[in-house]
Amino acid sequence: MAFDIDSYKNLDLDSKTKLFLDDLEGYLSKETDITANLANTAAFISAFFENINWSGFYLLKNNQLVLGPFCGMPATTRIDIGKGVCGTAFEKEQTLVVDNVCSFPGHIACDVRSKSEVVIPFVKNGKKYGVLDIDSGVYSRFSEKDVKILEKVLEILYKYADFENIK
Ligand code: SME
Repeated sequence: MAFDIDSYKNLDLDSKTKLFLDDLEGYLSKETDITANLANTAAFISAFFENINWSGFYLLKNNQLVLGPFCGMPATTRIDIGKGVCGTAFEKEQTLVVDNVCSFPGHIACDVRSKSEVVIPFVKNGKKYGVLDIDSGVYSRFSEKDVKILEKVLEILYKYADFENIK
């Protein structure tokens, strides 16, 4: 299987989104290893969304969020529950869209270029496993439509990622 970014060119947003979600499902459905599927999901997000500088996962391990597969600059490896945007979204079990990270009390800076951020907790069968985190170098980068697309990404991931086997 070879990924063709050029096939996304000149499509309207709805067609591009459908192709993205279909491609993602094509890749994830052929693999059972959770690390491989989280890594490809981070890479798909990075390829699809414009103006983002970091996309990846923090996974719950021993009551902390620990850095998982990602695309972007080196990042903080451990986040306490309730801390930063990631720990807050996880604790509240709530998607957080932060238009200006400087205005979020306790925001944890990883890539100094980041200006806005979206964090979506992932919960499968009522159990919380971690968060999806995406950063942008542009203020107010993330719209409700982006969140809806990312929720679909997580739905696909839930089908093919065996979260009980996160090591
Ligand atoms: N900004 C996040 C930390 C993770 S980095 O953005 C990759 C936070 O405040 O939790």
